[in-house]
Amino acid sequence: MPAPFRYSLILLGFVLSALGLSTCRDDSAGEPSTAPAAPPPGVVGGVDTLTGLIAEGDYLLVKGNCLACHSAKLITQNRADRQGWLDMIHWMQETQGLQDLGPHEGPIVDYLATYYAPEETGRRPPLGDVEWYILEQPTD
Ligand code: HEC
Repeated sequence: MPAPFRYSLILLGFVLSALGLSTCRDDSAGEPSTAPAAPPPGVVGGVDTLTGLIAEGDYLLVKGNCLACHSAKLITQNRADRQGWLDMIHWMQETQGLQDLGPHEGPIVDYLATYYAPEETGRRPPLGDVEWYILEQPTD
């Protein structure tokens, strides 16, 4: 292979990879896949002030993928396990035009099922310090 041709191939390689890199960066704008170590701006008391989402784990993925059509309240007011969240996501995909979340689906469902899990304890705390007694049946 003549040298100039080889060099232009190498150059073409560089140009292509630079293009590839920049489109990648565009795709992920606003959707970092991992949570930063330090609390990002806009987080107070572990809550994202703009959305009310619990600012833990992959909440930025939820922020980036879930708020185009409705407020975050719809999310923060809901509780479900993994399957429940998956069902809601699939329902939105089938009927509401929610995009395929691709590799983000897993982390998003993990986040939702972790921080917006069903409340198993209910609202009333368990009774403590109760003196139980046997209820006598009336005999007549
Ligand atoms: C393409 C638009 C769109 C996107 C993006 C979207 N949703 Fe929705 N979602 C809807 C619509 C429309 C409704 C129904 C709203 C209503 O009932 O008022 C809905 C309802 C919901 C509900 C309430 C479901 C119920 O049973 O009450 C939850 C929870 C929810 N979305 C979570 C999410 C999550 C999590 C994401 C990100 C993965 C997301 N949404 C992204 C359109 C969208």
